[in-house]
Amino acid sequence: MLTPSTEREELNVNLVRIGLIGTGGMAKWHAKRFKEIKGARLTACCDIVPGRAEEFARKHGIPAAYTSLEEMLDREPLDGVSVVTPDHAHAGAALAAIRRGLHVMCEKPLADNLQDAKKMYRAARKAGVLTAVNFSYRNAPATQRAAELVAQGRVGRVLHVEGCYLQSWLVGKYWGDWRQAEGFLWRLSVRHGSLGVLGDIGVHLYDLVDFVVGPFGVLNCDLPVFKKDPPRVGRYVFDANDSMLTTVRFCNGAHGVLHASRWATGHANTVALRVYGDRGALDLNLDRPAEGALRMCAGRDVDACRWQSVACLPVPDTYQRFVTSIRTGRQGQTSFEGAVRIQAYLECSMAAARKGGWVPVRA
Ligand SMILES: NC(=O)c1ccc[n+]([C@@H]2O[C@H](COP(=O)([O-])OP(=O)(O)OC[C@H]3O[C@@H](n4cnc5c(N)ncnc54)[C@H](O)[C@@H]3O)[C@@H](O)[C@H]2O)c1
Repeated sequence: MLTPSTEREELNVNLVRIGLIGTGGMAKWHAKRFKEIKGARLTACCDIVPGRAEEFARKHGIPAAYTSLEEMLDREPLDGVSVVTPDHAHAGAALAAIRRGLHVMCEKPLADNLQDAKKMYRAARKAGVLTAVNFSYRNAPATQRAAELVAQGRVGRVLHVEGCYLQSWLVGKYWGDWRQAEGFLWRLSVRHGSLGVLGDIGVHLYDLVDFVVGPFGVLNCDLPVFKKDPPRVGRYVFDANDSMLTTVRFCNGAHGVLHASRWATGHANTVALRVYGDRGALDLNLDRPAEGALRMCAGRDVDACRWQSVACLPVPDTYQRFVTSIRTGRQGQTSFEGAVRIQAYLECSMAAARKGGWVPVRA
């Protein structure tokens, strides 16, 4: 363990001090983004793998590192934490921080089951702490603008929706070799708390669609586990779903088809959504450069089937929103409450896949 950060740093009352829980692959982005936010600082980090947090701390200039979360929370004067562990460990880490009155930003999905997600939400509400969930794609300027346009009725009554989230790391090595790295292996294994492609990237798509179109009413879902070579590596048995096809009836009467896969050759990380209303349509594709990420066909363009790019203003991301909410004391756009609804969609998707039929959404 390095020295606790207070012993080296003068107390700055305006500084928002964040502790990072989990220092694996995604933690790099948390370190980068919190470093870029003026007045926020990662003052400590922890990871259960001995030496990993220390190495991460050295690399990213974080003053203190721990292998024990409890020790970090006991010793470090923090305002909030960011939970970046594998999904199954989100609940334990977040609840430990909430017990100490700390604000919590958590990676998606909020938990690996609905019961834990609700427990986290209720504990945060009871403790009066602020929460955020890193549904990254909701923070794209094009997503925020699309949600505004739908809410303003610019495409009329939404009727038909198609959305996808496509990756190809089970076919190619764009992100690395899935057979070699723990960060891929736990994602393929139910026993390691993974909800498969559904919980890993389907959850982003569900949040994005819920944000732009509105809440889901009933859904049907197919979640196959395609054969892999090899079928296991060490203690990791590859039994988690790796493609997802979901059909949704939204509460507002629209219907949609949403799909996600790790087998989508040629797509490193494609997130796209089309929303068709009775007066126009939106085409969001986060693979395109920011200035062309959102297109609309509406008004006079409808008859000509002509699409025009829509200008989108920059928006804060989850990291900025979390720091702002700690500074102002006001809950930001994503919260544990909203994430419980998304967790319910995951639970319903699994129930529908087991049943082979439609399931009503109940949070
Ligand atoms: N928002 C996004 O776009 C996005 C992208 C990638 C990953 N994620 C999410 O981030 C989380 C982490 O994913 P990753 O790819 O970094 O995984 P990873 O396996 O690379 O890293 C997880 C780290 O957490 C550590 N850890 C495990 N249990 C712990 C515990 N109880 N306390 C402290 N540390 C613990 C592991 O040792 C590991 O170093 C997941 O929930 C994942 O879904 C989000």
